[in-house]
Amino acid sequence: MKKLAVILLALVMLASCSGTASAARYYTSTFAAGADGWYARGAQATYRTTEGTLRTEGRSSDWHSPGRDFTLVEGCLYNLSVEVYQDEADSASFMISIAHTKDGTETYENLARGTAKKGEWTKLEGSYTAGNYDRSVLYVETTGAPQLSFEIRNFIVDAPNGIPKPQPAEPAMEIEAVAIEDMPSIKEAYEGKFDFGAAVPQHAFMDSKLKALMLKQFSILTPENELKPDSVLDVQASKSLVYNTGDQTAVAVHFDNAKGILSFAKANGLKVHGHVLVWHSQTPEEFFHEGYDRSKPLLSREVMLGRLENYIKEVLTQTEEMYPGVIVSWDVVNEAIDDGTNWLRKTSPWTRTIGEDHVARAFEFARKYAAEGVLLYYNDYNTPVPAKLAGITKLLKQLMEEGNIDGYGFQMHYSNGDPSITQISNAVSQIASLGLKLRVSELDIGAGTSESALMQQKARYKEIMQLMLQYAGQTEAVQVWGLTDGMSWRDGRYPLLFNDQLYPKPAFYGVLEAVEE
Ligand code: XIL
Repeated sequence: MKKLAVILLALVMLASCSGTASAARYYTSTFAAGADGWYARGAQATYRTTEGTLRTEGRSSDWHSPGRDFTLVEGCLYNLSVEVYQDEADSASFMISIAHTKDGTETYENLARGTAKKGEWTKLEGSYTAGNYDRSVLYVETTGAPQLSFEIRNFIVDAPNGIPKPQPAEPAMEIEAVAIEDMPSIKEAYEGKFDFGAAVPQHAFMDSKLKALMLKQFSILTPENELKPDSVLDVQASKSLVYNTGDQTAVAVHFDNAKGILSFAKANGLKVHGHVLVWHSQTPEEFFHEGYDRSKPLLSREVMLGRLENYIKEVLTQTEEMYPGVIVSWDVVNEAIDDGTNWLRKTSPWTRTIGEDHVARAFEFARKYAAEGVLLYYNDYNTPVPAKLAGITKLLKQLMEEGNIDGYGFQMHYSNGDPSITQISNAVSQIASLGLKLRVSELDIGAGTSESALMQQKARYKEIMQLMLQYAGQTEAVQVWGLTDGMSWRDGRYPLLFNDQLYPKPAFYGVLEAVEE
């Protein structure tokens, strides 16, 4: 079913929007029964009213808005309109905007504008020709009225040139069958340079073929989800602990999900990179509240600092005790820099409780409890975006002053076309010049299945590996984010080194060629 959806999607993506088809209505909002797929972007609430309109409240920024995901075909023209209503200001300016994402980078365009007088339904109209994006969210925002509550109705999307007709997709390239024992080994090819590894989910350790593949190819592994706070923090046990001891800083953790990877690594002499201690995502909301009860207030800075210290202490000391020497490095903090402001995320629960220095404190505690020689990393994405690179560099310099950070991890969730190797190489060179150790923590390259896509993907892998080889003395590891295309979190983009039969793709040979030539 999933495969069929992927093929259909590929067909739609390849379709062009010619002028021959007849105009069609693509979408009309219906708030008669519910929110119809609309949700609050940043605002506290978006809900249908008894009059069948959609109301948004609890805003504190202009972009806090009702938004909805739309599938828009590249090159197609769309006409957009919506009616807006507000009764809090004499007049207020509104826009229809789009937030589109390509390979993890979100960018914005304003598509329609209008001014709504108090108590009058006002129509905004505009148009948009879709670009090449992975995700598109249309939303209705204000300008200069960040706290205004407002309503919308009749959000309409028309395709004046018609909805595209599917065209045949390029055929998929056949991948040659190679048995695991007959493959060359990447880890052997990179021996003496740096470790090569992969992110692996829990279930892989119950599959003998996947285990054989890992042993053959990788010298280091990262648990894809199993050492994240939502796997490790035991909310119920923490709650009881606080209740029984009266100590709000008490923390209970468990490693049930990470046992598979940690014992496999221990038994087979593989290294593990720990991911991740502090992140705004995949972290239970209860962590930040009194009594681990999300209906209670957020914790004070002091208490949250205590919980942070105890969490880091428990995770680092318990894993070291059970699996001595296995975890060689940790992502102490992940993705703390915001893509809009290029500074620390204001809405992260870590910033809201502890404040901006939660990053420095996390590194301080990690240094305090980590075993000797365990390397401590800050990990982030979009490093080649110049403004973000500036923010990341500023943060790294601050952290380096305290001496508790060892390195920077580049997430590289890229695609065939973007970003350019020059942009990537500038980013690596700038971070490397700080003197930190480097690792590519999350490498995958979205492509497709045609021969041309797979050969381009091979060239991308090869140029990235050649780049990192120039920094071999400073680089600890390069890790792909997943084992097979079907296991990738970017399923449908075919971004990894092995196909679903575990056969090596051209990209696999690209990684080898980089070090062999
Ligand atoms: C992803 C995992 O691959 C998915 O299985 C999970 O559903 C979401 O997280 N940046 C990170 C990783 O630091 O932890 C993310 O992993 C991918 C993006």
